[in-house]
Amino acid sequence: MSNSSDSNTPPEKLWGGRFTEPTDAFVEAFTASVQFDQRMYRQDIEGSRAHARMLKKINVLTDEDLQALLKGLDQIEQEITDGKFEWSIAREDVHMNIEARLTEIVGDAGKRLHTGRSRNDQVATDIRLYLRDQIAFAIAEIRRLQTGLLDLAEREANTIMPGFTHLQVAQPVTFGHHLLAWFENMHRDASRLQDCARRLNVLPLGAAALAGTTYPIDRHFTAEQLKFDDVCRNSLDAVSDRDFAIEFCADAAILMTHLSRFSEELVLWSSAQFNFINLPDRFCTGSSIMPQKKNPDVPELVRGKTGRVNGHLISLLTLMKSQPLAYNKDNQEDKEPIFDTIDTLLGSLRAFADMIPAIESKKENMYKAAKQGFSTATDLADYLVVKGLPFRDAHEVVGKAVAFGVDSNKDLSEMSLEELQKFSDIIHKDVFDVLTLEGSVAARNHIGGTAPEQVLKAVADGRERIK
Ligand code: ARG
Repeated sequence: MSNSSDSNTPPEKLWGGRFTEPTDAFVEAFTASVQFDQRMYRQDIEGSRAHARMLKKINVLTDEDLQALLKGLDQIEQEITDGKFEWSIAREDVHMNIEARLTEIVGDAGKRLHTGRSRNDQVATDIRLYLRDQIAFAIAEIRRLQTGLLDLAEREANTIMPGFTHLQVAQPVTFGHHLLAWFENMHRDASRLQDCARRLNVLPLGAAALAGTTYPIDRHFTAEQLKFDDVCRNSLDAVSDRDFAIEFCADAAILMTHLSRFSEELVLWSSAQFNFINLPDRFCTGSSIMPQKKNPDVPELVRGKTGRVNGHLISLLTLMKSQPLAYNKDNQEDKEPIFDTIDTLLGSLRAFADMIPAIESKKENMYKAAKQGFSTATDLADYLVVKGLPFRDAHEVVGKAVAFGVDSNKDLSEMSLEELQKFSDIIHKDVFDVLTLEGSVAARNHIGGTAPEQVLKAVADGRERIK
C-alpha cells in the first residue's frame, strides 16, 4: 500500500498504515457507505470548514493552511454539485472521499484537517446537520398542508356531513369541522418535529473517536459556526447517540399514520358507495383493463408508504438496542432508514399539500347521508332533558322512536308531531328545530364544536397559530 507522506496523492486507504495486505474486494464494497452517505456532502463540507477555522483559532493550523483548505473545500463542493466529483468505493464513505480529494487539491494542508477529529464525531455532526435541514423542509410542507386545510375548511364551514363512530352514522357534523381535525393532527406533528430539531441541535465535534482530544479545542467556537445551540456534554455519548434519529423516525411514523388515516377517508369518500368528494383527475390514475376506472392512487400510496416509515423506526430501534458504548460500525446502518424516511415523508406531505385544496365536496350526497341513520337522535334526547326528563329516560324514549322509524322507514324529522308524541307527551312543535341537521350542528356552538360559526372561528385561530 502506498502511504506517501510528501506527495499530494493520498494513500488509497486513509487508515492503511498498519495493514499488510489490501482489503478484500468484496469486503471493501460491503463496508462502504459512500453510495448513500454522499447525500450529506454539503453538511460534511460545512463541518470541515468550521473545524478548520477552529484549528486555526487555536493555532494548530496556520492562516495559509486555513485559506488553502477553504478554497479546496469550495472547489470540491462545486465539483460535487456539477456532478464532476469522482466518488470512490475504495475511499469508503463521504468523509474520506472528500478528505482524500482535498489532499489531492491542496496537499499537506488537507492532511492536517483531520487533527483532533474522527469520522465518529464527524458523521454524528453530519447527520444532525442534515436532519436539521430536512426537518425545516418538512415543517414548511406541513404549514402548506395546514394552510390548504384551513382554506378548504372555510369554504366548507356550512357543509353538513355525517360524523361517524364505528364507521356508523353517529351525529351530523360540518365538513369544515372534520377537516380541522386533520389540521390539529398536523399541528402536533409539526411541534413534535420542532422539538426533535431543538434536541438534536447540539455539536458532537470535539468528541473525536470517543474520548475527546489532546488539543486545546474550542468547541463553542465550532458550535457557533455551525449554528448549534450547545455542545454534547459527554464524548462517549456524542459519538454513539442516535436517539435523535430514532426520535425523528418516530415523529415521522406518527405523522405518516395521520396521513394514512386521512388517506383512508379520501379513498372511502371518493368511492361510488360514499360519493362525498371528487378528487381531481390529476391526482388519480386509470386502469389498464377497466376503461371506467379512476383510482385514488395518491392517498392509497401514502397509506401504503406509511408501512416503510414504521419499519424504519423499528430498524433504528433494533439497530441500537445491543450496542455497547461508544461508536460501532453498526451505526453506518442508520443512514438508509433515515434517508428513506425523509424522502417518503417529504413526498407524502407534498402530495397532500398539493391535493387538499383541489378536493371538491359533493354537498347533496353528504347531506343525504347525514340524514340516514337517525343522526339527530341525541338532539331529541337533549331536547327531552331540557324539558325535564332525566337523560337515561330520554335515551329510552328516543330509542323507541328510532325503532318506530326503522319499521316505518322514516327519519325522526320526517315523523309527525302526533307520531312523536306517542313516545312522550312533553314533545311539542319546537322539537323540529332540533331535529333538523342544520339545527343540530348549529347548537354545538362552543370552542371545539362543529357549528359553522365555530368552524370559522377555528379557521381564523388556525391562521394565527401557523403564522
Ligand atoms: N461511514 C461511517 C458511518 O456511517 C463513518 C464513521 C466510521 N467510523 C469508523 N470508525 N469506522 O458510521
